Amino acid sequence: MTAPAELTRTPADSAVTLAHIMSEHDTNLYGTVHGGVVMKLIDDAAAAAAGRHAGVPAVTVSVEEMTFLAPVRAGDLLTVRARVDHAGRTSMDVGVVVTAERWNLTGPVTRVATAHLVFVAVDADGQPHRVPALDPATPADRRRQRRSRTGRPDRR
Ligand SMILES: CC(C)(COP(=O)(O)OP(=O)(O)OC[C@H]1O[C@@H](n2cnc3c(N)ncnc32)[C@H](O)[C@@H]1OP(=O)(O)O)[C@@H](O)C(=O)NCCC(=O)NCCS
Repeated sequence: MTAPAELTRTPADSAVTLAHIMSEHDTNLYGTVHGGVVMKLIDDAAAAAAGRHAGVPAVTVSVEEMTFLAPVRAGDLLTVRARVDHAGRTSMDVGVVVTAERWNLTGPVTRVATAHLVFVAVDADGQPHRVPALDPATPADRRRQRRSRTGRPDRR
């Protein structure tokens, strides 16, 4: 369980943006996109941000919050933005914001979902692996860092 003690990364260093055009194969009987399809994209983007921060693969350990704010439809351009908000010893809190541009791409950009997930960096044996410290470089980074663990029990 090693990580160079002096190594730090800012949230911007590991932030991930994933864009995806939703298709009719993603929809349910009501013609809107399945929540599970959006959840998969959220998990993918968050895992990539956590893995970038850690420098090793990271696995999802907890979904602290997942909120769907507006429906997503076939043809929408979905943008999933993930960033590490807090780094513990081996765990990372990742915040995700999902926006949609409607099919004709002329309407307003709508926030359709938010999520907060926890990942744990793992070594080749699947054991928790130490992660670099997070350097919250901006006031917004520091605010997100403070909020990320609010109400989350300390498991140690
Ligand atoms: C991730 C995993 C290796 C952690 O193992 P573990 O024995 O719980 O490890 P630890 O108790 O040492 O905890 C490791 C870290 O995870 C955090 N953690 C563990 N369970 C957690 C939970 N339910 N919620 C939030 N954080 C959690 C701990 O607080 C600790 O954080 P820290 O090192 O930053 O202080 C293990 O739980 C696992 O393999 N889970 C399955 C992950 C997976 O396959 N995900 C994909 C699902 S399909």
